[in-house]
Amino acid sequence: MSVVKGVLRNGFEYAERGLGRFFPAEWNPLLNLGALGFFFYWIITVSGIYIYIFFDTGVHDAYDSIEYMTHEQWYLAGIMRSLHRYASDALVVVMFAHILREFALDRYRGVRWFSWVTGVPILVMVFVAGISGYWLVWDKLAQYVAIVSTEWLDLLPIFGEPIARNFLSPDAIESRFFTLMIFMHIAIPLIALAILWMHLQRVTKARINPPRGLAISMFAALMGLSLIHPAMSQAPADLATVPGNVGLDWFYLPLYPLLETLPGSLTWGMATCLLVIMIAMPWLPPMKRARPAEVDLANCNGCGRCYNDCPYNAISLIARTDGTAFEREPIVNAAFCVSCGLCAGSCPTSMPFRRLSALSPGIDMPDHTIATLREETEKAAAGLSGTDRIIVFGCDSGPAHTTVSSDTVGTVSLTCIGQLPPAFIDYVLSRDLADGVVLTGCRENACHARYGIKWTEDRLAGVRDPHLRRRVPRERVRTVWAGKTGMARLRDEVAAFAQDLRDMGPMPRRAERKDHGENRKELEDA
Ligand code: HEM
Ligand code: SF4
Ligand code: SF4
Repeated sequence: MSVVKGVLRNGFEYAERGLGRFFPAEWNPLLNLGALGFFFYWIITVSGIYIYIFFDTGVHDAYDSIEYMTHEQWYLAGIMRSLHRYASDALVVVMFAHILREFALDRYRGVRWFSWVTGVPILVMVFVAGISGYWLVWDKLAQYVAIVSTEWLDLLPIFGEPIARNFLSPDAIESRFFTLMIFMHIAIPLIALAILWMHLQRVTKARINPPRGLAISMFAALMGLSLIHPAMSQAPADLATVPGNVGLDWFYLPLYPLLETLPGSLTWGMATCLLVIMIAMPWLPPMKRARPAEVDLANCNGCGRCYNDCPYNAISLIARTDGTAFEREPIVNAAFCVSCGLCAGSCPTSMPFRRLSALSPGIDMPDHTIATLREETEKAAAGLSGTDRIIVFGCDSGPAHTTVSSDTVGTVSLTCIGQLPPAFIDYVLSRDLADGVVLTGCRENACHARYGIKWTEDRLAGVRDPHLRRRVPRERVRTVWAGKTGMARLRDEVAAFAQDLRDMGPMPRRAERKDHGENRKELEDA
């Protein structure tokens, strides 16, 4: 399984890089799959409402009403019909890509189960809604879909009378049954929307709107397709004949030939197994789970930064319980915490300069504490020599950074680069542990912990607390967001940075620096 995941993950990274040549980083469609899903959902809704105005819900007039839209009112209702069709197809594509990507990135296991499991009914409902949509056109394809679907459903003892009987002869089909299909076609997407709302409950600041440029280009592509290749119906359904040679839709109906040919017990068995496996996946071995974040109230001032930065809604702020003058305190919901460490990186008390008291922040990761991080940083720096000494802080989801270790390069690993408090960069440079610092991790906009790269960039830019102090020479800090497949890039960038550091010459000694005020502040912090 891990081999499959590795291949998929590399495949996604290469595809993201490929698309990166055509789209700016934040527009990359593969990095906006969930948001694109929502976008297509809205297009389906708006176009669906419009075509519903002209749709005749009676079984005998449905086909004609759609023909009217397609040919007589092609300039509006026809385009709306095509947009409805193509946005639905696009939804299937982005939904499958989204599922595969979350699977490849291992973002469905353990405490992340909630988004995955709520995704499963959404998947089923998108298909049921799409299939019922094909049914409503009441052409040859609709007839084929109706017969194969009802015969398949009749294999289960849920209906008193076989529903396939409705499609045996021209007089058998009732408008009432048709009205039921329309109701399903509208009600199911609404229920799916409610489940989508639940789907996002465990992630904070979910990206549900694609960047404007991406949205415009996707809409333009759908419009172009609708104009060049408008959606058309096949010949009208005729229950007196058996539909043969229907052109299938490969987005919603690819399994229909199997439903038709394989024994029903086998297809029902396969469908049930697939659903059960999908639902069980978050709990299948190998399960590796680091312990959740822990709060140490004795070192917490209730500033709320950890609450603001947690990407998984795992921290709440409640009224202070320890009798101190601070108003609030954070509590961690262990069932939501993915152990990414972003909260420890955001805490103002994660201060490596502290020597007089133990380095115990207000919130920390018990399996990889900030104190351990400082020890590892000092150890990585210990053997380095020259004027191009570099410490690389790298996250486990980025390039294999430990392979760049050498006499001049030391490496330190983190769960997510967002776990690194910016004070560590200051610490490395001001304590002369190295001449330069490299931060590396996932590709931009593709952070495994969702916001690790964004918060890090904001902290470095000084627009998010805790920010990197102004005294830190920015030319001695590099970021390399390269992903698992970016080893060569990391190696090249580290080599180029080493050359730049040699050209810059040695770091000015602390005593020689002009910022005595900053040094005093540092001592006060300690
Ligand atoms: C119409 C279909 C769907 C839409 C529009 C959708 C949308 C989204 C969005 C917007 C996010 C948050 C992304 C972010 O801000 O980082 C998300 C997360 C997620 N989705 Fe979906 N989703 C859909 C279907 C599914 C399905 C079918 C599955 C799997 C069975 C799934 C699995 C997940 C998982 C596991 C996450 C959480 C990722 C994490 O832990 O960071 N989604 N989805
Ligand atoms: S480790 Fe990550 S998920 Fe857990 S509380 Fe901290 S920021 Fe939130
Ligand atoms: S960031 Fe640190 S000090 Fe601020 S509320 Fe969280 S644990 Fe407390």
